[in-house]
Amino acid sequence: MDKVFVLGAGFMGGGITQVVAQGGYTVYLYDTSPAALESTLKQIRWSTEKLASKGKIKDSAKAVLDRITTVKDLSLVSQCQWVIEAVYEDEQLKKGIFKDLDTRCKPETILASNTSSIPITRLASPTTHPERVIGLHFFGPVPMMKLVEVIKGEKTSDAVFQKSLYFINSLGQYPVKVMKDIPGFIMNRVSGASFREALSLVEKGIASIEDVDKGMHYGFNWNIGPFEIADNAGLDTYVRVGKAFQALGAEEVAVTSELLEKMVAAGRLGRKVGKGFYDYLPDGTKVPFDITTIK
Ligand SMILES: NC(=O)c1ccc[n+]([C@@H]2O[C@H](COP(=O)([O-])OP(=O)(O)OC[C@H]3O[C@@H](n4cnc5c(N)ncnc54)[C@H](O)[C@@H]3O)[C@@H](O)[C@H]2O)c1
Repeated sequence: MDKVFVLGAGFMGGGITQVVAQGGYTVYLYDTSPAALESTLKQIRWSTEKLASKGKIKDSAKAVLDRITTVKDLSLVSQCQWVIEAVYEDEQLKKGIFKDLDTRCKPETILASNTSSIPITRLASPTTHPERVIGLHFFGPVPMMKLVEVIKGEKTSDAVFQKSLYFINSLGQYPVKVMKDIPGFIMNRVSGASFREALSLVEKGIASIEDVDKGMHYGFNWNIGPFEIADNAGLDTYVRVGKAFQALGAEEVAVTSELLEKMVAAGRLGRKVGKGFYDYLPDGTKVPFDITTIK
């Protein structure tokens, strides 16, 4: 069975690690922050045990958790068939990582990025084997979301693309094929458009956060609304993705908003810190944030 190395143990890297281990693969998880590794491992344990207790995964929680090892450096990438990068959305950071992975990994190892916005062709450009670089764009929270966009860079080989579709299917995820490597791919363009509009309506005082979320739920059958989705994803990640779009010259798809920037500056990063567009209370309920109080 293939071995998988995940780089970045944040919201996405943790979820990807869990789903890949649930799929039966051995996973090594690395982050430059030991604190991130520790807290993500706790989250993976909690989530895996919950899913196992509900009979939603085929193996025991112990079997899944035994397949995951946290590591302190990149040395084991040379033994893996897959590397999935899930660090901050920053083109220079990611390019540096791909350049380094290119020298450390065997030529047949597939190098994947979970980028939300940056074309794969650009991330592959510093490598000597761009044909093995691919986009595997998971959606969060990964253990709950079945979608993965599989993005073919200009130089990604057909064999790597086909293998990636097979890999995603083997995880029980649904692969959507992105055949042209454009900023934001498919889904973030669609969801970004609705979030941009939702933010504008709320910023102008035309609708409340809660009404927009409830409206999309009751009117369009969304499980949760755009502000709840943003809180789950992390508002700091939205700001980084917006900046990445701007740096790519793709302003028309960037979600940028003064309110979003102010919320991040005030530490309202979303569910991971207990406050974003909602305050998440210890009893499990949530209260919409009064945006008129933000400085
Ligand atoms: N949040 C979402 O809903 C979502 C959805 C799809 C894709 N993405 C993309 O996934 C990626 C990660 O997003 P996230 O929400 O998990 O971010 P996050 O902030 O939760 O985690 C990023 C992690 O990367 C680590 N990191 C930074 N530099 C590193 C390095 N050089 N080596 C190893 N680890 C490093 C950080 O310590 C942090 O733990 C981004 O590219 C983002 O655009 C995010």
